[in-house]
Amino acid sequence: MADQLDPEQTGAEGYAVGSSEFDASGFDRLTSSGASDIERAAEAALRPRSLDDFVGQRVVRDQLSLVLDAAKGRGAAPDHVLLSGPPGLGKTTLAMIIAAELGVSLRVTSGPAIQHAGDLAAVLSSLDEGEVLFIDEIHRLARPAEELLYVAMEDFRVDVVVGKGAGASAIPLSLPRFTAVGATTRAGLLPAPLRDRFGFTGHLDFYEATDLVRVVTRSAGLLGVDIEPEAASEIASRSRGTPRIANRLLRRVRDWAQVRGDGKLNLAAARAALEVYEVDPRGLDRLDRAVLTALCTRFGGGPVGLSTLAITVGEEPETVETVAEPFLVREGLMGRTPRGRVATLETWRHLGLVPPADTTT
Ligand SMILES: Nc1ncnc2c1ncn2[C@@H]1O[C@H](COP(=O)(O)OP(=O)(O)OP(=O)(O)O)[C@@H](O)[C@H]1O
Ligand SMILES: [Mg+2]
Repeated sequence: MADQLDPEQTGAEGYAVGSSEFDASGFDRLTSSGASDIERAAEAALRPRSLDDFVGQRVVRDQLSLVLDAAKGRGAAPDHVLLSGPPGLGKTTLAMIIAAELGVSLRVTSGPAIQHAGDLAAVLSSLDEGEVLFIDEIHRLARPAEELLYVAMEDFRVDVVVGKGAGASAIPLSLPRFTAVGATTRAGLLPAPLRDRFGFTGHLDFYEATDLVRVVTRSAGLLGVDIEPEAASEIASRSRGTPRIANRLLRRVRDWAQVRGDGKLNLAAARAALEVYEVDPRGLDRLDRAVLTALCTRFGGGPVGLSTLAITVGEEPETVETVAEPFLVREGLMGRTPRGRVATLETWRHLGLVPPADTTT
């Protein structure tokens, strides 16, 4: 259920089995922001280990460093922290950094890995003073576990129920002062009482291209390869604002340079590699283009419901909603209205199609 994890350790990610919905096979596309198990191992080597190493997200970084410094100053565990944002932006990385900065170990579990409240009670009661408990995909916790977590987070106590029926009684068990770090790709699904128990919520947003250039350059250094600045920019601008994708594209460009190029990571290699992998200049991949094409050609630009759209392209609605949509909406390539998803002028243009006369935005 929960694995002990030394935050200084490279390699193992400490992921509980079945800990992330993003392990699903539908996520093997080059620009999907989710990661497979194999990829998680490759990522571990590139993970920043300290707040200073963590590129971009200045606001969250500043806020978090205040929370951590204050706690360290008081010699006490900090408030519980909630991290929200699309896949691949650094939630797990930050959780590991929090433990490392506090100099404590990190326990890792996840909403889907906890089947029963008793599972969570077992994890909680085995925590040591000051430890960080990372709960990934916290919006997927089962209801009874969630209720147990409220009490644990607020009062540092779990009630162990002994016996059944009328004779059952609850024996309170006190817990050490721990810090819960929750991560979610869907903050909107968290019930308010749970959200309220986090003293600090950091929302991670897509990265600016300049920050991604730093991510790519830093990762190239760790991989021991030289990359020309133009190549780093090219990769950054096609990475959908997501460090995980930037690192993945970097590895593919490195492969291309090694196999088909002269080993140099330059602009020509970056362009050629990304063409092979069908990542377009704005970072859209086949699924994105399929969604947009269906929206325009099958549904005349919408509005169309998300699940209808997802079925049309043969994907799970959740994949389309968490992986494709946030980026497309941010890029102005898709609009959300109360009646469904709509194409924008930009969508038609990007696909090289002629918009209907009444398309205004
Ligand atoms: N700010 C950053 N600076 C440098 N690298 C980063 C940064 N954020 C993320 N990365 C890189 O991106 C990869 C993915 O990050 P991470 O696993 O923390 O994402 P996540 O938000 O937990 O995603 P998911 O929702 O899928 O669990 C990491 O391996 C790390 O190397
Ligand atoms: Mg994660």
